Amino acid sequence: MRQPLVAGNWKMNGSRASAKELVEGIKAGVASAVKTQIALCPPHAYLADVSAMLQGTPVMLGAQNLCYASSGAYTGEISATMLLDFGCTYAIVGHSERRALFGEDNKIVARKFLAASKGGLTPIFCVGEMLEDRENELTEAVVARQLDAVLESPECLAALGGAVIAYEPVWAIGTGKTASPDQAQEVHAFIRRQIAAHSAEIAGKIQILYGGSVKGSNAAELFAKPDIDGGLIGGASLDASEFLTICHAAE
Ligand code: 13P
Repeated sequence: MRQPLVAGNWKMNGSRASAKELVEGIKAGVASAVKTQIALCPPHAYLADVSAMLQGTPVMLGAQNLCYASSGAYTGEISATMLLDFGCTYAIVGHSERRALFGEDNKIVARKFLAASKGGLTPIFCVGEMLEDRENELTEAVVARQLDAVLESPECLAALGGAVIAYEPVWAIGTGKTASPDQAQEVHAFIRRQIAAHSAEIAGKIQILYGGSVKGSNAAELFAKPDIDGGLIGGASLDASEFLTICHAAE
């Protein structure tokens, strides 16, 4: 049985003060979520504050992005080593917003995956189709291509056992439109089969999270599906009680 993981991706939201308030609220309610792994991915600017506040709690820290290089002349970037320095466990790579708004293609995503993994972080590797892909019945083809960036690189494949996958259909992100539990399960099972073609062992143990308009009210039915091992939560992770409801739904 895979342990559930619920990770909050705050994206570029909040202030230093609101970040602290949010972490206080989450800390107050996590004790009762014993089975679920919980992680928070604040903006980089707040990593130090959040890291300090999470000391002594089971809640883990993650970054929303990182550089593919380990150090050097990369103005504005942040390395895996720096994130590790702040106590990060996870780094999100390949989020659809990075792909769509910042031009990150499958090749860059694979490099970031490897940088995270080599740097001692657990990559949360995001894949997901656009609405147009789904309407043209291209969901599996698109997701397979995104997965292949990692599966077909021997170096990345070797690191996959220490990674997490997140399936986030782009049409469900921030839209209030959630994939139905059956729709999500279908793609999660597909992802697991794709991984199994390379390694049955990794396929059996890797956590595959669902992301896209997960809320307190729909989390339980999504997490009840056999191949959905938790969630990557955007908007609802900015509200402590909503986020805690989702964490409890994963129990
Ligand atoms: P929402 O939960 O706001 O739809 O965002 C999902 C997401 O992109 C998490 O990475």
